[in-house]
Amino acid sequence: MRKVSFAEFGGPDVLQLIDAEEPHAGPGQIRIAVRAADVNPVDWRVREGQKLAAHPLTLPSGVGLDAAGEVGAGVEGVAVGDRVFGEGSSTYAEFAVLAHWARMPEGLTFEEAAGYPCIMETALRVIGEVSVLPGQTLLVSGASGGVGSAVLQVARDRGIAVIATAGPANQEYVRGLGARATTYGDGWVERVRQLGPVDAALDLAGSGVIRELIELTGDPNKVVSIADLDASDLGVRFSGVAGSVPDALATTVDLLTRGTLHIPVEKAYPLTDAATAHIDSQAGHTRGRRVIVV
Ligand SMILES: NC(=O)c1ccc[n+]([C@@H]2O[C@H](COP(=O)([O-])OP(=O)(O)OC[C@H]3O[C@@H](n4cnc5c(N)ncnc54)[C@H](OP(=O)(O)O)[C@@H]3O)[C@@H](O)[C@H]2O)c1
Repeated sequence: MRKVSFAEFGGPDVLQLIDAEEPHAGPGQIRIAVRAADVNPVDWRVREGQKLAAHPLTLPSGVGLDAAGEVGAGVEGVAVGDRVFGEGSSTYAEFAVLAHWARMPEGLTFEEAAGYPCIMETALRVIGEVSVLPGQTLLVSGASGGVGSAVLQVARDRGIAVIATAGPANQEYVRGLGARATTYGDGWVERVRQLGPVDAALDLAGSGVIRELIELTGDPNKVVSIADLDASDLGVRFSGVAGSVPDALATTVDLLTRGTLHIPVEKAYPLTDAATAHIDSQAGHTRGRRVIVV
């Protein structure tokens, strides 16, 4: 089968499309014919050799965590050909093994489904960790990307108000997800103040705003970051340990089935263009998701 792999850490050019043995599912796992795989920022961080403590690997290594596809033979509880989405490893490939999966709701495309697992697990985790309650206001710095899009829609479903920062091109997008919005960049703290008081804040972009988020909430315990490694030096929690992926998938299916969750796919790339997908993701301005289609 064809699979994206890298034999040394480095830039996008270390990614190669190779012929590889098909993977075999171990106990509790499932093997799928991949139809789409999500491009998460962690994929290029791992490719560069960052995050090795959280994502230990031996080279050469495959790429990718999230995928959607069709089930192969011999799995209890699902039939051959069932459409599933979930989280596994080396998902930029024709076949991959998933450790956690759920059946795709009717009407969902593989491309869209591949984008949900990791970002929904992260969104649900950080909303829980920042302890924001229905009726309160959550400030989300970096609201238009994958995790931000998920946070805004979970918050809306729970009755949590959101003030969002995003780039100029994404103001209407985040407003469409129910947030009051303003741009990041010079003067953003004052613009947020004008939108109203905030009870808690999430840093999803790692853009060096932890001090300002503490100032706006009045308490480092009311701020959580997923992207600023210096956050803990300022007394703010850095959230990096995944919660329950099966619970996140169940919540995702529930929200999708109720029609209250939709994260757009900004662009789909063929397996041969994984390096371009990484270059575009690394540029840091994804609206929703980018995916590899197989
Ligand atoms: N710790 C964890 O468990 C965990 C889990 C998942 C992701 N992450 C990390 O969290 C980050 C976000 O992930 P993602 O999948 O949501 O990424 P993504 O889809 O690539 O989105 C990146 C977003 O950052 C925004 N952005 C860029 N510069 C900004 C700035 N100066 N201020 C505010 N926002 C800015 C962009 O907004 P515009 O396009 O509107 O400019 C874009 O929407 C990545 O660094 C990723 O590695 C961590």
